[in-house]
Amino acid sequence: MIDPFGREISYLRVSVTDRCDFRCKYCMSENMTFLPKKDVLSLEELEMVSAAFIRKGVRKIRITGGEPLVRKGIMELFRNLGLYIKSGELDELTLTTNGSQLGKYAGELYDAGVRRLNVSLDTLNPYQFQDITRWGNFEKVMASIRSAKEAGLKIKINTVALKGFNDHEFNDLIQWVGDEGMDITFIETMPMGTIDGQRSDQYLPLSDVKKQLGERWTLTPSAYRTGGPSDYFDVAETGGRIGFITPLTHNFCESCNRVRLTCTGMLYMCLGQEDKADLKTVLRGENGLAALDAAIDEAIGRKPKGHDFIIDRKSDGRPAVPRHMSVTGG
Ligand code: GTP
Ligand code: 5AD
Ligand code: SF4
Repeated sequence: MIDPFGREISYLRVSVTDRCDFRCKYCMSENMTFLPKKDVLSLEELEMVSAAFIRKGVRKIRITGGEPLVRKGIMELFRNLGLYIKSGELDELTLTTNGSQLGKYAGELYDAGVRRLNVSLDTLNPYQFQDITRWGNFEKVMASIRSAKEAGLKIKINTVALKGFNDHEFNDLIQWVGDEGMDITFIETMPMGTIDGQRSDQYLPLSDVKKQLGERWTLTPSAYRTGGPSDYFDVAETGGRIGFITPLTHNFCESCNRVRLTCTGMLYMCLGQEDKADLKTVLRGENGLAALDAAIDEAIGRKPKGHDFIIDRKSDGRPAVPRHMSVTGG
């Protein structure tokens, strides 16, 4: 699949639920309401749409949410999509998780063909963790990370950079992931969905952070590529890697290779745009799979050049994109 800007689309992100057992302050408000279950695609439908994308050349699938591991029966989807890894039709099946349920599922994920996954963790301080996630349990996430490593899964930590919250902890996080044999990426907060607060108060440009970290650590541009937006550096002192996801300070849309399927069967061609294609109606319509193929082609044909994110005080309260990241899966 080639889009109008000549980019090959080989990466599908699938949000399997908008629900989450945390309430991270930069992601959702405390009293977030979730979609009615009837609006959500069944696991069979999610698999059917994913399979259509694989037939069209997608080589990497990331399962996201909300928190993907709170979806009932989710291992069935992992097992079925894992068959495409085993047959060589897919290069990577992975997920992004808050880690709360990971301890329980690590072995099954490995058996399904998952080898690498991302765990969201914004602080190493249990009190700060409780504060930012509102509903999270720090010790449980730490135990999950240990179980996942024991199961043979390679872990990357995702840390959203938040001014006045975790900016004093970046060096500790880098040392910790280095010691634990993990990678880390720092992420700029994106203006998606309303939250209880001002995003501009939390926003930290990573271009400045990178400069500061460069004074403390010996950072060399890494040859490591995941097909994702993170720009990686090798850290000489730890032997580990750190990455930066910088949609605001350094737009990476030029090399975009991905589209997103929501749990309601909408295909978003860009995280930071509102245009979408309704694949659920097509899939449930008369011509089913044949119509789905045509609808996917049509949607890829209108993938936009890039996002329109900006963060400033004037636009606060009116996020650049009204839907929450938990709906589209990040
Ligand atoms: P790997 O490099 O494969 O490990 O994955 P990743 O870091 O791209 O994926 P992950 O799901 O862990 O996402 C990390 C952050 O990157 C999240 O905040 C996503 O919203 C963000 N992200 C992923 N793809 C895009 C994109 O196309 N545009 C923007 N603006 N952000 C993205
Ligand atoms: N901006 C940036 N990252 C976000 N995440 C959730 N909401 C936002 C936001 N508004 C992160 C989570 C997770 C990943 C999928 O996206 O922490 O690591
Ligand atoms: Fe849940 Fe992830 Fe949003 Fe936190 S950032 S509330 S873990 S979906």
